[in-house]
Amino acid sequence: MSTAGKHENAASAPRILFYAVGANPAPWLADLQAALPDASLRVWEEGDDAPADYAIVWKPPAAMLAGRTDLKAVFNMGAGVDAILQLGDALPSSVPIVRLDDAGMGVQMAEYVTHAVLRYFRRFDQFEAQQRNGQWRFLKAFEKDKFAVGILGLGVLGSRIASGLAPFGFPLHGWSRTVKQLDGVTCHSGAAGLDAFLAASQVVVCILPLTDETVGILNRETLGKLPRGSYLINVARGAHLVEADLLALVQSGQIAAATLDVFQQEPLPPEHGFWQEPRITITPHIAAVTLRGDSVRQIAAKIKRLQQGLTVEGVVDRARGY
Ligand code: NAP
Ligand code: GLV
Repeated sequence: MSTAGKHENAASAPRILFYAVGANPAPWLADLQAALPDASLRVWEEGDDAPADYAIVWKPPAAMLAGRTDLKAVFNMGAGVDAILQLGDALPSSVPIVRLDDAGMGVQMAEYVTHAVLRYFRRFDQFEAQQRNGQWRFLKAFEKDKFAVGILGLGVLGSRIASGLAPFGFPLHGWSRTVKQLDGVTCHSGAAGLDAFLAASQVVVCILPLTDETVGILNRETLGKLPRGSYLINVARGAHLVEADLLALVQSGQIAAATLDVFQQEPLPPEHGFWQEPRITITPHIAAVTLRGDSVRQIAAKIKRLQQGLTVEGVVDRARGY
């Protein structure tokens, strides 16, 4: 993982700006203050251009960061950086952006995906449908060696999903940009490795970052290369999926069912066709939430390191997009 730490030791107490859409700032500021007693913390408001050393943000407006070359780092309060990178030139190019590096999200992702995979493998989705219809009917179990799980993205969260699934004995496949070796996982990489990955996966889990290369990667063509009757679990970003293609593929039986945590538009609009399709399970972007305690500990530890002129992990490679 990339590192940062080019700024020399800053003797003075760090000045920290905070801005997070949808979060109550008070408990965050209290926990940050407890972790960094010397720091002076303030919630950023429109027009605040007083000096600062760090910014801790979730979906900040461009005006907050434009021209802020005084910052030593911007901490993104999530693993995904697609929203902050959309600010483009408003982000000072000299300031590293640091993403959350697991911070308690790995185990949540492993729980979510393991639950969804086991639900399909043990046919609970079909038993739930039968119960709704008052039906008592035996369904033959699937064979585990034919129920391979393929994970698109083998980074911090994808590799944790793989280790969560490993004890259940499913054949595991993974796909990444660069070549990887992971115990118990058949690893595929790059555009050249995608077709073999798809052909092998009875369940596809998407945990890729959203970039120019991965937008729309779950579409009629790629999902059509899965074995017939496959399952999709998308816990990455809504824009990875061409939603109309999925509906058609579910209705044709190519995809047996899907569990989706993320959508092109969130909240998912009431008129969206997914709501009416019983084979699509919807959750409201909760697969792995930002945990305040873990996140404050991680960000505070990184600020202390940067204050000492040391490097930190989790720096985003802007050219790569994640
Ligand atoms: P990460 O550690 O950066 O891992 C990203 C993985 O994707 C890496 O294995 C990377 O390959 C692979 N990848 C990137 N571009 C690729 C491409 N073009 N082709 C093939 N593989 C590619 O990220 P993470 O921490 O695991 O998080 C992943 C994403 O999860 C976030 O970006 C966010 O969108 C999403 N997320 C969702 C939720 C939720 O609640 N739904 C919560 C947290 C995060 P290399 O290993 O070769 O670099
Ligand atoms: C949530 O979606 C995240 O990227 O942390």
